[in-house]
Amino acid sequence: NEGALWGARFASGPSPELADLSRSTHFDWILAPYDIAGSHAHAKALAAAGYLEADEEQRMHEGLDAVAKKVADGVIRPAPSDEDVHGALEQALIAELGPELGGRLRAGRSRNDQIATLVRMYLIDHAKVIARDILRVIDALVAQSEAHPDAILPGRTHLQHAQPVLLAHHLQAHAWPLVRELERLVDWRVRAGVSPYGGGALAGSTLGLDPALVARELGLDRPAENSLDGTAARDVVAEFAFITAMIGVDLSRLSEEIILWNTREFGFVTLHDSFSTGSSIMPQKKNPDIAELARGKSGRLIGNLTGLMATLKGLPLAYNRDLQEDKEPVFDSVNTLEVVLPAFAGMVATLRFDTARMAELAPQGFSLATDVAEWLVKRRVPFRDAHEISGALVRACEERAIGLEDADDELLAEVSPHLTPDVREVLSIEGSVASREGTGGTAPVRVAEQRAELIARAQGA
Ligand code: ARG
Repeated sequence: NEGALWGARFASGPSPELADLSRSTHFDWILAPYDIAGSHAHAKALAAAGYLEADEEQRMHEGLDAVAKKVADGVIRPAPSDEDVHGALEQALIAELGPELGGRLRAGRSRNDQIATLVRMYLIDHAKVIARDILRVIDALVAQSEAHPDAILPGRTHLQHAQPVLLAHHLQAHAWPLVRELERLVDWRVRAGVSPYGGGALAGSTLGLDPALVARELGLDRPAENSLDGTAARDVVAEFAFITAMIGVDLSRLSEEIILWNTREFGFVTLHDSFSTGSSIMPQKKNPDIAELARGKSGRLIGNLTGLMATLKGLPLAYNRDLQEDKEPVFDSVNTLEVVLPAFAGMVATLRFDTARMAELAPQGFSLATDVAEWLVKRRVPFRDAHEISGALVRACEERAIGLEDADDELLAEVSPHLTPDVREVLSIEGSVASREGTGGTAPVRVAEQRAELIARAQGA
């Protein structure tokens, strides 16, 4: 078992069956640059503790740089005999520097503290990419909202017409959860910045190495307080998986609406040709595949989270090999979002809204009935009675198959003497929307203020 990280106490090498099961290079090779960064930092810690002379440390860094270049150029590739990225890169370093110097680097560290650190470094880097991509979706929503400051659509609860709202208000309602995802990533970064490096296999090291030095070198904030926890905990990975799953859910909810809005029955939006797809048999089709893929892939993101949680739940302290299963789910979540988010941003940015169609539907379904009730309240009618009167008006109009705005003076008076003709001042969708001017409400002035706040929060995150 030449070149393996272990072997002396074994009479034979691993069976091919074990090697096939154990091997992780097909997914952990992506961590090679982080592994090498860890090795640079560890070399400094060894030198600081007196285990490498200055010239040895120098040659060690040069050897690691040479390995890094060969990995980047594809000259060094994982061999079938390599169990994981850590072993493969140690072999490469020994090939570069010889066993006398190359063999010194492993002192005082374990793959257990290495991998627990590297996965954090990888996630921190990709969290930045994901945050940038989320910001693009937020920007697209904000731009659409700015482009349609007055457009009104039927606001819904239970998917039924409820009250008219500004399109901008609705679009911003989809942007806020994404702002919170940005904030979640910032918050997560505090916990992610802890470095398990130096914890060794589980118990720490006898060599007097400085884990704070390693943490600093790796751009992390501080070493883990507890070496068992540092090497065995994966809550930071699971929390990342949760945030990515939640982002998937946010996108999925907006996707569902875009898919509905894009139907002939709604007719609220048209997708840009370059962000929609055709059918191989039906020449007329133009399909919202980006929204459907975003909705579909949210299931996969949730699966990655639940799979990881299930892996963790039965594990005793400290490291167990099960923990090798933490990487593929989050790598997949990263890869998924890094293709979904850019396509999604493009789709949103290029949506065309049929504002006339939305305005036509907005008052339908008696969506101004609450306005009538609140108009009565302003005239000192108790809300209980106002609700009854407005409900009776809805029923009378429904029986006559007319809208609230079509009720004549006679019908209004018949329903209630409180319903004088000037109730019509609230029977327009513009009047209804403009009058909802409390904090967070749908009045244009509030929605514009809210947009400024939203932009500031997104940029501050
Ligand atoms: N490849 C492993 C992982 O991803 C790290 C190796 C730890 N192996 C071990 N036998 N302790 O978690």
